Amino acid sequence: MTKPKELFFFFGINDPATFKSKLGSDIKPLVTNTNQLLPNSTNAPVTAVNIAFSQTGLQALNVTDSLQDDNFAIGQFKNATDLGDDGTGNWVPGFKGTKIHGVFLLAANDVQDIDSELANIQQILGDSINEIYRLSGAARPGNEQGHEHFGYLDGVSNPAVQGFDDGTRPQPDPIAAGKIIVGADGDTSNRPDWATGGSFLVFRQLQQKVPEFNKFVEDHALDVPGLSPKENVDLFGARLIGRWKSGAPIDLAPLRDDPDLGMNRTRNNNFTYAHPEIPGFDVLSNQTRCPFSAHIRKTRPRATLGAETGPANDHHIIRAGIPYGPEVTDAEAASNKSSTDPSLERGLAFVAYQANITSGFKFIQQSWVDNEQFPSIVPNITANTTGVDPIIGRDATKRTDAPRVITGTDPLNTNRSFTLDSEFVISRGGEYFFSPPISALSGRLAV
Ligand code: HEM
Repeated sequence: MTKPKELFFFFGINDPATFKSKLGSDIKPLVTNTNQLLPNSTNAPVTAVNIAFSQTGLQALNVTDSLQDDNFAIGQFKNATDLGDDGTGNWVPGFKGTKIHGVFLLAANDVQDIDSELANIQQILGDSINEIYRLSGAARPGNEQGHEHFGYLDGVSNPAVQGFDDGTRPQPDPIAAGKIIVGADGDTSNRPDWATGGSFLVFRQLQQKVPEFNKFVEDHALDVPGLSPKENVDLFGARLIGRWKSGAPIDLAPLRDDPDLGMNRTRNNNFTYAHPEIPGFDVLSNQTRCPFSAHIRKTRPRATLGAETGPANDHHIIRAGIPYGPEVTDAEAASNKSSTDPSLERGLAFVAYQANITSGFKFIQQSWVDNEQFPSIVPNITANTTGVDPIIGRDATKRTDAPRVITGTDPLNTNRSFTLDSEFVISRGGEYFFSPPISALSGRLAV
């Protein structure tokens, strides 16, 4: 549902009987199917609609079958510490506890179309639901469209999925569909039949401290000979992310941004961090092209852990997030500080789909991103301790103000460490959902 505007409408169910009857009869026809979203669809909706349920939402509907995912079953609130969150003090009140039963996702080119579709849904469901919280996402304006708030092109890389990949976009081997879609080939769990074709949806509201991030990057310009001061600033930022602002991967463009590469969909995801063409290049020790700590290498290590489809790499998600909140104001930029005005909060409405939260998002966040020893713990990796992911990593077992230390970022000395004394991304909480197959909306969920 990639559209410039998206609303996440979180609700509770007050009247299960009415809700169930409307779900099958009136809501199901509104839900957008995959064919409608394909590029040459002839019946693309003005507003794309989807619906997903939390564990307590399924319980409210008296659907007691186990979906065999422990994290989904307990909900994200109880997972806060596991995810590295600094408790739940920064969480949006609506996400605290387990009161959210479901979410409508509405996506369109214009906010007015989203508003009228929401009004339609609210009119259908009446008092059978109540609003708990809503978050409006929007693509950033002008040339920043498609870029997240730190300025980097987002939505460049998602794993290729068997059966959904036409091979026109070269990238590491396609993963089994059952890693993303429940009941598809490669999903070895034993879930109820009605869940086949669904997917678990992880939602996180991640606030971004943009002026603070920009200042940190400026203050840590690298010193690579032949680059201008500005290029050395940009290189430091790119080495935190693993891509330049244009989307070009630093593994393929290690010194300067290459906007043509960033835009080129046949080349911008075609890398593994291994370079057989470079004599003596060792993927397990050489960080001159991309640090182990870079956000995209922490979250998808590719050849660092062997084959894409091998057991060590077997933790994949499909991301579908969108920025929220306004652009940085002049006053914030001048003071290098984010405003405390809640209406100026900005960040990423993070969305990830997978067939198993425990081995998808949760594993990536807990065992890779927040693990300062990863991938240093992998046999044969010769780096010093890598540190947590500089963008989203945090070790909740440490003091709140404990500095985060990363290595690998300076290509001239990859053992050099950098201290991140504040966090640039603050978790405002979220929830775990199951996005059911459309058939279940008039089947198991409606009876
Ligand atoms: C505000 C928070 C975040 C920001 C600013 C951010 C930013 C980015 C950017 C700029 C990229 C590169 C573009 C692309 O490949 O699409 C990226 C890729 C990625 N991010 Fe994030 N991200 C955030 C949160 C997360 C979280 C919470 C996770 C999961 C725990 C995550 C997992 C990934 C993955 C798996 C990739 C693709 C890596 C690859 O395939 O090479 N991100 N992110």
